[in-house]
Amino acid sequence: MLSNKNKKTLFTGIQPSGDLHLGNYLGAICPWIEHQKQYNSIFCIVDLHTLTQYKHILNKDRKEYVYKMISLCIACGIDPKYSSIFIQSHLPLHVELSWILNCMTPLGWLKRMTQYKSKKDDHTINSGLLNYPILMAADILLHKANVVLVGYDQHQHIELTCKIGRRFNNLFGKTFIIPTVLTKDIGARIMSFNNPHIKMSKSVGISNPGHSINVLDDEKTIIKTVMSSVTDSDNNFKSEGIQNLFNIACAISQESFENLFDRFSIKNYLYLKKYIIELLIEEFRPIQQHFYKISKEYDYLDSIISDGLNYVSKTSYNMINNVREHIGIKYS
Ligand code: AQP
Repeated sequence: MLSNKNKKTLFTGIQPSGDLHLGNYLGAICPWIEHQKQYNSIFCIVDLHTLTQYKHILNKDRKEYVYKMISLCIACGIDPKYSSIFIQSHLPLHVELSWILNCMTPLGWLKRMTQYKSKKDDHTINSGLLNYPILMAADILLHKANVVLVGYDQHQHIELTCKIGRRFNNLFGKTFIIPTVLTKDIGARIMSFNNPHIKMSKSVGISNPGHSINVLDDEKTIIKTVMSSVTDSDNNFKSEGIQNLFNIACAISQESFENLFDRFSIKNYLYLKKYIIELLIEEFRPIQQHFYKISKEYDYLDSIISDGLNYVSKTSYNMINNVREHIGIKYS
C-alpha cells in the first residue's frame, strides 16, 4: 500500500488474545471496514499487549493466535489493499518509545485508569497492566495517527495518549500529532450475554461459555448463548440485558432503535432474541467461509504482514530519530 499525502492516518490495534467476538466485530472491525478507504489505514496486531496476562505469557501458541486474528480480520472485510496490517512486536521501536514515554508519565495518571483499578486487587496481575496504556500511547504516537478507532472501553486510554503526547510536545517542541478518537454511536459498547454489567471481552470469554459470541461460533452455540442471555423476568425493556440486545440488533441490522423498539417492545423479548439469532447466523456465515479458505494460506498471510511492516517502518524510524534527538540520546 502507498501512503497518500492527502489522506489522514487512521490507526487501531487488536490483541491476539482469543477469538474475535461480537464486541470486537461491532465496536472495531465494522467501523474500520467502513472507514479504511478514506484514510491511510494502519491496523496493528498488538501481541505485546497480551503479555499483561500471565496465561498469555505462558501460552506457546501465540503465533497461531496471531495468524488466526489476521485471517479473521481479513475474512470480515479488512482489505490489505487499503489497510496496512502488521504485528506490533515486529517493530521494536514501539518498546523504545514506550520506555521513553514511561519516564515522562506521572504514576498518578496510570493509577487513575479504570481498567487498572478494576483489576489491581487480583493477586496475579503484573506491572505490565499498570504500564500498558503507555505502550498503547507509543503505538499511536509512533505512527503519527490523526485518528484512532476504538470501542468505548478504550476512551480513557486514548485521552491518556493525548495527555502524554501534549506533555512531550510542551517539554521538547512539537513532535507528536495529537489524535482524535473515532467511535461509532451504536455497537461500541457490547456487554456480556450472561452478565450485562460487564463488557464482552476475549479473555473472559475463553473460560466462560455464555459470556460472548465469537465470529466463528456455529449455529448451535449462537442459539444457546442468545436464548440463555440474561434479560429479566418481568419483560422490562429498560433492563441492561435487553438494552444490550437492542444495541446488538441495531448495529447488525442498521435499523434505528425506534423501529426495532416499535416492532419488539409489544411482544415477549423471545422474539427479539430469535431475530438476533437470525441476524448473527446470516452475518457470520460468509465470514466463516472466507476464514476457512485463507487461514492456512501462510505465504499469503506472511506477504500481507511483511507489506504492512514495510509500510510503517520508514515513518516510524523518522519519528524515533526525532524523539531521540529531542531528548539527547542520538549520538551520531
Ligand atoms: N465489548 C466491546 N464492545 C465494543 N468494542 C469492544 N472492543 C473490545 N471489547 C469491546 C474493542 O475492540 C478493539 C480490540 O480490543 P481488545 O483486543 O483489547 O479486545 P478485548 O476483547 O477487550 O481483549 P481482551 O484480551 O479480553 O482484553 P481485556 O482483558 O483487557 O478486556 C478495541 O477497539 C476495543 O475498544
